[in-house]
Amino acid sequence: MNKKRLYIGLNDNYHDPSITILNDEGGVLYSESIERIIQYKRGLGCPSDPDVLINYVIEDWAQYNGEEVVIATAWKKLRYTRSKLGAFIGLLNYDNDSWFYKLFKRMGANQTFYHSSGRFVAAISQSGYGINDYLKFNFPEAIVHRKFYDHHLAHMVNGIHSTNEKNGVGLVIDAAERWVSVYNIENGYPGKALKINTKFSMGSIYFLLTSIIGYSYLKGEEWKVMGLSAYGSHNELFDKKLRELFGYENGNFKSSSAAIGQLVEPIKNFITSNNISHEDVAFTGQALFEEYLLVLVGKAKKLVPNKTNIIISGGSALNSLAIGRLAEKKWFKNVIVPNACGDDGNSLGAALIAFREFNPKAKFPSDGLNRNPYSGGEINSDELQKFVENSQLPFKKFDNIAKVGAELLYANKIIGWIQGRSEFGSRALGNRSILANPCYKENKERINAVVKFREGFRPFAPSILHEFGDIYLQDYSITPYMEKALTFREEVMESIPAVVHKDGTGRLQSVMKEMNSLYYELISEFNNLSGIPIVVNTSYNVMGKPIANDINDVISLFFNSEIDALIIGDYLLERESF
Ligand SMILES: [Fe+2]
Repeated sequence: MNKKRLYIGLNDNYHDPSITILNDEGGVLYSESIERIIQYKRGLGCPSDPDVLINYVIEDWAQYNGEEVVIATAWKKLRYTRSKLGAFIGLLNYDNDSWFYKLFKRMGANQTFYHSSGRFVAAISQSGYGINDYLKFNFPEAIVHRKFYDHHLAHMVNGIHSTNEKNGVGLVIDAAERWVSVYNIENGYPGKALKINTKFSMGSIYFLLTSIIGYSYLKGEEWKVMGLSAYGSHNELFDKKLRELFGYENGNFKSSSAAIGQLVEPIKNFITSNNISHEDVAFTGQALFEEYLLVLVGKAKKLVPNKTNIIISGGSALNSLAIGRLAEKKWFKNVIVPNACGDDGNSLGAALIAFREFNPKAKFPSDGLNRNPYSGGEINSDELQKFVENSQLPFKKFDNIAKVGAELLYANKIIGWIQGRSEFGSRALGNRSILANPCYKENKERINAVVKFREGFRPFAPSILHEFGDIYLQDYSITPYMEKALTFREEVMESIPAVVHKDGTGRLQSVMKEMNSLYYELISEFNNLSGIPIVVNTSYNVMGKPIANDINDVISLFFNSEIDALIIGDYLLERESF
């Protein structure tokens, strides 16, 4: 019998399902969000191990041959019971004319709660069955273990794994719990979780802001609120209202007793009747979020003193503006946020916890300052070659594709740049990207007009060669995953107007040779031509769709847009050539 073991982590939440496979030594073989494969935004309600996908994942990425398998999930079993109860009550509450509905409404329950409970139950009830089915039919002798772990712990372990820093304060902030968890990280291990009772989840602040502005939290449109905040200013009345709902006084948090979903309509009415603009809602809400993040970090510092690093994970750490403000405070030498810090990353977190459980003395393999985020799927060279031949499109092959790409950018072309394995996490980091020249202000509008079709107020991110970070940004610190928005230096803003947001910030990506050598080469070649070590980097997708995954998604987007050129691997396809 083959004694080797695979660790398969699943994020089987109803949003952002994902799958991770670790090898016998704990090395990451594969991490991917399901939304990419099925091309359905956030994979809402979809299993984390879909039947038609799972054999491809296990066979292609793990070369599976009957090894022992550990399937790990980042929810404890108790969570299942709680959600089943919520879903059951929701089922009885379809008829909103019934006495039952009215009773539960008075008790504070609401549609958002029923919805999330019902979807959650569906997601976790089908978790692991795709893998199980595959194994039972193909490898009936294989030994399978099933593990259930703490949600916040999975976030934290994912965060620790993303960096070579082995000591620090750990902080997990998300929407799942009404507390944040603080960990003392020593030698790469998190200690027992300490809780700060916030009485509301930090994620619920953003849920409310997103909903009252009219965006969808289900589609993950919190980004839009963050972008909009730069256009607003402080509104005293709205600030007071928010503090009634999410309060902090005399060192303690306090919360309104109403369930968050019930607050949406009243607060919507409140902002309308008081003529408070959406921009001011976004600014005031973001400011409160940043204030509370600093309060939480201050409390965490007291609970775990004398640390030079802080590792923050959980969905709220996607607030790159707040993380940037924290980094600029210089309370810590390093402010670390992993790629895939939201629930998608918990497939990796759960798999890592399982690995540690079976190998208590093992260290995680690490080979650089930060984890390589390119652990998703790829368009392999055979597949690409075949497509190029069969499609009869005028592709041209180059042996210096980085230089070709740089020349196109210098000529102010907008290009699709598809290389290697896809990024794990919500941000495109130079392998599934649309790139443009940052020196022309109008490029923001151009990208929106030709492909993104998104709101004009949303910023575009800069990818910058790491060694130029200090020259372009105030209080620069390494930001490999676009996890921080930092402030540009006044004197450089005019030279790169397409990537400077209204508030002077940029949600940057520090590009390092050791993490993505081809992308580094592309930006270096662009720098040789233009004197600017920065490109505009936005994800290769259209608004409302996930980032393109396979060759068909990539080509389809190209032909449904007006991008000037598409580069896949070593091949170039120029629009003007046909
Ligand atoms: Fe979470």
